[in-house]
Amino acid sequence: MKDLFGEDIVNIACKAHEDVMRSHGGSYDKRNKLNDLTGSEWQFWTKTVISKPYPSNMQHKLRSQHGGQKPPQLCADLIKVFTKKGQTVLDPLAGVGGTLLGAALCGRKAIGIELNQKWADIYKQVCDLEHLDRYPIIVGDANDKLKELEPNSVDFVLTDVPYWIMDQVTKTRSSAARASNLSKFNEKDLQTKEEWLSEMKAIFTNAVRPLKKNGYMAVFIGDMYRGKEYHFLAGELAKTISEIKEFTLKSDIIWHDDSKMLHIYGYPFAYIPSVIHQHILIFRKDG
Ligand SMILES: C[S@@+](CC[C@H](N)C(=O)[O-])C[C@H]1O[C@@H](n2cnc3c(N)ncnc32)[C@H](O)[C@@H]1O
Repeated sequence: MKDLFGEDIVNIACKAHEDVMRSHGGSYDKRNKLNDLTGSEWQFWTKTVISKPYPSNMQHKLRSQHGGQKPPQLCADLIKVFTKKGQTVLDPLAGVGGTLLGAALCGRKAIGIELNQKWADIYKQVCDLEHLDRYPIIVGDANDKLKELEPNSVDFVLTDVPYWIMDQVTKTRSSAARASNLSKFNEKDLQTKEEWLSEMKAIFTNAVRPLKKNGYMAVFIGDMYRGKEYHFLAGELAKTISEIKEFTLKSDIIWHDDSKMLHIYGYPFAYIPSVIHQHILIFRKDG
């Protein structure tokens, strides 16, 4: 279709898009099938350390009841690297919706799965308070609900894993589950690291089907210091997910969370780290 001056309307739209992109630095390559980034934006996001600060905004008080929530802006930045405008993001462990809020911020669609109704309800409240598009969160076990999603229906998976019961302060299952903030999302009462890894493998195996071929998956995971030793959980989880034949590990991005409160662990007797970074493991569905 032509405009009043005889120029092709589709060309004008493309040029306008390219101009916007150039104003953000660099030019947009029309062959780019992955995202809407310009060359310089693409280059920036190939870095394996995210040093950009992310504010604790968007109804932070409400969302912080969860304790494991991720900054929606950080999620939006990751979503922009692995999708184009209008595409769909899946979070099978959605919590209070960091991924879904991030998708709304950057004009993508999203779908979440969350075991706990309370977190899904908080996500809905936040959307209403912030006047943001509200995407569906299916309440239930990701292992079952992922099987109900259409095959090849999502462009990107962005998620953040729960942990197992780490602090066995009492013999009873329920009080042990309350002992640690990290263990708080262990709704399924996973008792050991082995049980946890096998549950994560089951969930990510089920995430293969809804993800489109050549689609990416990003997984937040924190290492931890427990029982007098450092647990390189990111390494263990990366190895476990890589055993799923469709997923290939592509990167390990470090996000440094400066909002974490520091304690002087070990002082003045022994070195104990304050783990203030998280890993974002990047996989691609190749198979
Ligand atoms: C670390 S949190 C995710 C936080 C989220 N990124 C956010 O910004 O709010 C992990 C979530 O997974 C949920 N969860 C644990 N096991 C699950 C399962 N099998 N199916 C669905 N959700 C599960 C927990 O209830 C918890 O809210």
